[in-house]
Amino acid sequence: MHPLIASLIYYIESSKGYSVDDAREGDEKLSYIVEVHNLGMKYQSLNGEINALENINLSVKEGEFICIVGPSGCGKSTLLSLISGLIMPTSGKVLINGKEVLKTSCDVGYMLQKDHLFEWRTIYENVILGLEITKTLNQETKNYVLELLRTYGLFEFKDKYPGQLSGGMRQRAALIRTLAVRPQILLLDEAFSALDYQTRLAVTDDIYRIIKKENKTAILVTHDIAESISMADRVVVLTKRPGTIKNIHEIKLSCPERTPLCSREAPEFRHYFNKIWKELDVHV
Ligand SMILES: Nc1ncnc2c1ncn2[C@@H]1O[C@H](COP(=O)(O)OP(=O)(O)OP(=O)(O)O)[C@@H](O)[C@H]1O
Ligand SMILES: [Mg+2]
Repeated sequence: MHPLIASLIYYIESSKGYSVDDAREGDEKLSYIVEVHNLGMKYQSLNGEINALENINLSVKEGEFICIVGPSGCGKSTLLSLISGLIMPTSGKVLINGKEVLKTSCDVGYMLQKDHLFEWRTIYENVILGLEITKTLNQETKNYVLELLRTYGLFEFKDKYPGQLSGGMRQRAALIRTLAVRPQILLLDEAFSALDYQTRLAVTDDIYRIIKKENKTAILVTHDIAESISMADRVVVLTKRPGTIKNIHEIKLSCPERTPLCSREAPEFRHYFNKIWKELDVHV
């Protein structure tokens, strides 16, 4: 399915999803926002069955930043699609705020490698798209979007078209579009890999600060080991297909400020890099 159609269906379905308030009955604070239990996914294709993921167990705390790394085709995107409710697992389950994920929900925002901004809509018209589709565009949500644009330096560009913006600004606009529907959890699938190296470093720093300031829980899939260490509280390493969890590294870095750029200067950084590199067992 074309990703745009998938994301449109996602937004439409999102409007019907359960709400966070439903899940937090009696204001009871749950310790994990995302729980993945014995998750497995087998695809049926014309060439037979593809065992994409097997026995994945993972619990994510509110506000945590998780990075997932693994060889090509090991099921990373599949894992995000399962967490988002875009597809259903063949075994196991995903819980969000303690409730099993059976469909997509506004609580989860999904950002892909391509920004999927519509070239014929202005930046403002692009960032309100999710609100239009979920029929939640009103004065309050419009003000929220304008505030996001102002806070994150895109207000002056709101009447410009995507083609008039740099790659980094486009990615920021895509993040604001995702944030506009107020998800609790952000899923980012190779969200920065279409950018050149220098822009990518700046954009990861930028996006990381926004995610932290907005107090979101994030799960980022990346091929880039350094990127994963620089952003994550924990890095999950997957094996080759069928993807299983090989190891989970808690990242503890001594640096004055925990931002992606500062993290790269930490003395422990290389140690994590070497360990994860060995675990990924990359042959060139
Ligand atoms: N809809 C589908 N139907 C059949 N097979 C699929 C489908 N989606 C993914 N697969 C297969 O499942 C496996 C895992 O795919 P997935 O895209 O999740 O991997 P990935 O780790 O994200 O890969 P990459 O690193 O290339 O992005 C691959 O072998 C892929 O070909
Ligand atoms: Mg993928």
